[in-house]
Amino acid sequence: MAKNKNNKAIWKNRIKKNTSSFFQKVGGSLDIDKRLFKQDIMGSIAHVEMLFKQKIISFKIKNKIIYGLGKIEKEISKNKFEYNLKYEDIHMNIEKRLFEIIGEEAGYIHTARSRNDQVITDLKIWMRSSNKEILNHLNKIIKTTLRIAEKNIKTIMPGFTHLKNAQPISFAHYLMAYVEMFTRDKKRFNDNIESLNESPLGVLALAGTSFNIDREYTAKKLGFKKPTNNSIDTVSDRDFVLDYLYSCSVCSMHISRIAEELIIWNSDAFDLIKLSDKVVTGSSIMPQKKNPDILEFLRGKTGTFYGNLFSMLSLLKGLPLSYFKDLQDDKENVFSSNDNLINCLKLLDEILNNLSPNKKRMLELADTGFITATDLADYLVKNHSISFREAYEKTSLIVNFAERKKIKLEDLNISDLKKIFPELTSDVLNVFNLENSVKSKRSYGGTSFDNIKKMILKYKKKL
Ligand code: ARG
Repeated sequence: MAKNKNNKAIWKNRIKKNTSSFFQKVGGSLDIDKRLFKQDIMGSIAHVEMLFKQKIISFKIKNKIIYGLGKIEKEISKNKFEYNLKYEDIHMNIEKRLFEIIGEEAGYIHTARSRNDQVITDLKIWMRSSNKEILNHLNKIIKTTLRIAEKNIKTIMPGFTHLKNAQPISFAHYLMAYVEMFTRDKKRFNDNIESLNESPLGVLALAGTSFNIDREYTAKKLGFKKPTNNSIDTVSDRDFVLDYLYSCSVCSMHISRIAEELIIWNSDAFDLIKLSDKVVTGSSIMPQKKNPDILEFLRGKTGTFYGNLFSMLSLLKGLPLSYFKDLQDDKENVFSSNDNLINCLKLLDEILNNLSPNKKRMLELADTGFITATDLADYLVKNHSISFREAYEKTSLIVNFAERKKIKLEDLNISDLKKIFPELTSDVLNVFNLENSVKSKRSYGGTSFDNIKKMILKYKKKL
């Protein structure tokens, strides 16, 4: 920037010595909040339009400021803007440059405004778009998942509890569980947009102002529903940052659970899914390896999201009202969570598009571990008028018997079964069939093929 009297800190008359240059280097936020330049300029334009409307500044000055801001926006977009660390942050860098472009009349821009309301106005506008972008990525993943689910309604696999075979299920039903998780994430991000709808602009440093400003006007111009109610709370509040960081953390936790699951299923021991070469990496020593690195990356990243959330929670704990420099760190956490979450969502979508179920192995594994034992117990309750607990006991005796004989439940013959439960008839053998078992889970939310079809359709309509 050219050397002129504006090439000094704005508090030069009051603070006679230059601030520690080391602090200027490490304590500013310019490298982080550069990303807010568009929102900052948008906010400034709305602000000066309001100042003019309220007869606080003249038509000429308003136009000059808007002209200068437009020029600055172009310079920054084209990478032609010269940043100066001395001016701490993007807000002061823009103001300083405005002086260079339009001269002393730039001094009117900060009438009835403080950086304290300016910075959260910018951040809130930025976060509105971030929430929307995340929602788009979530929709994309849901769409991909629905497409795979649709193709796999009749793909039977073991459902696990404690990672032990529990009951047979459809692979599509499993995938639809992910759709539920991501739909809840969508609700959180949508709620965030809702809670970002109050405009901070016009609360100034903390007390409001004696200028006759119109906060409703700037709120509407900047896409907010209304102005915030209390000037002190407004400059102190970062609850919206916590909500956002929490939503990112939960979403990432969902991604990590899916990632962990797919790592297990992709292992040589389970071998339930195959990942295409596009989404695996090799080993530097073992030539045969195809490793699920992306999934491990996704699982690991969760730590970053929790870190950002806890960093912000710790920063806010015990912090008195209203503005303190501590708060400056909010943006670093928000940007980190935004960038990482978008990367993770894109990667997960790639994984889903490059994964195929090993249907044969899924069926084989589902056919072990006496997985239809619960179906037998249910059968006994329905057909032999006994309580579930009694049916459970009889079934465990039958399982013990099959285990001793080293055979599957479906390989038992009716005479063996009658030794334990004499009233049994041969139609009981149907309950051991895996497909019958899956089909029979018709209760709302259960794994029957019909249920899954309906659920997929319901979600497809929503998209
Ligand atoms: N860079 C600061 C931040 O991001 C701007 C607010 C500065 N306000 C102040 N009173 N120092 O928090």
